Amino acid sequence: MTPSFDWDTFIATSELSTQVVELDEDQRWSTWPETAHTLDRGPQPFPDWVVQHHGAIDTELGVLKTGKEADAFLIERALPEEDRTGRPGEVTLMVAKRFRSSEHVSFHRSQAYADGRRTRDSRVTRAIARGTAFGREAAATQWARTEFGALRELFCAGLAVPYPVQIVEGELCMEFIGVDGERPVAASRLHEMRPDAELAVQWAGELRRFVLDLADLGYAHGDLSPYNVLVDPRSETQRLVVIDVPQVVDLVANPHGREFLLRDCVNVCTWLRAHHAPEASTDPEEWYGRAVRRYL
Ligand SMILES: Nc1ncnc2c1ncn2[C@@H]1O[C@H](COP(=O)(O)OP(=O)(O)OP(=O)(O)O)[C@@H](O)[C@H]1O
Ligand SMILES: [Mg+2]
Repeated sequence: MTPSFDWDTFIATSELSTQVVELDEDQRWSTWPETAHTLDRGPQPFPDWVVQHHGAIDTELGVLKTGKEADAFLIERALPEEDRTGRPGEVTLMVAKRFRSSEHVSFHRSQAYADGRRTRDSRVTRAIARGTAFGREAAATQWARTEFGALRELFCAGLAVPYPVQIVEGELCMEFIGVDGERPVAASRLHEMRPDAELAVQWAGELRRFVLDLADLGYAHGDLSPYNVLVDPRSETQRLVVIDVPQVVDLVANPHGREFLLRDCVNVCTWLRAHHAPEASTDPEEWYGRAVRRYL
């Protein structure tokens, strides 16, 4: 008689059993393998800290900020501890920014920013305009894609933005600007800082260069303010990193482009002036005039 199959013994002795990983509620398998298309991933060469292993696990460590249109989460992407050898690319922190598609979201910044931008699929455009469930989902994905595309372009041009790691539907993952450690600490935002005169001069220079370099590419940020500028705690010189770019405005195609550009300049110059930066290097009209000449 053939002995009956003993499932428990099979599991206990099978090599497979060593690979069974139980995921907690705040975990998922790394979504990196879902991003095979090169446009879904950050620019190459990938930095060595990007975790590309298919066996990595994403763990949500907490919420950085909830917003009207998107929530930002801190994510650890890592190989299981027993598989790590200490090489880069085995464990990293990232920020996952998830755009909302639920009913109560009103994309208040949609229209004026999107002027001059077009979806190739008119069915999608109509659904977004009507605000159907499908349209809301599509709008969330579109905002995430626009931010991801902008981050890619800006990063490649050498502007100070976080490295964009990947995009999957309405969620984009980017470099965590902060200190990784026992307890990770996110970068402070510019509005929380109280610089001395020397630092204020340095920051004025960095932000002016950012605005001008962006104009070189034909864009204005569209929401540049001390709330969307981080102070990188990993850099000895307290270098600034600009975030939150889903609404970058095309200065040529968007009829409101110049208004957005001027508002960006006024926002940051006003803050810098109130924090020890000299008036001569923080004249919004001068920044604006220079920027306009760059993209013309
Ligand atoms: N790459 C990053 N590294 C560290 N912290 C980040 C990063 N990206 C975002 N944050 C944190 O999350 C917050 C929200 O991010 P972001 O400004 O992109 O989203 P938002 O929902 O559009 O915000 P808001 O509507 O307040 O402008 C930031 O103010 C910052 O504190
Ligand atoms: Mg913001």
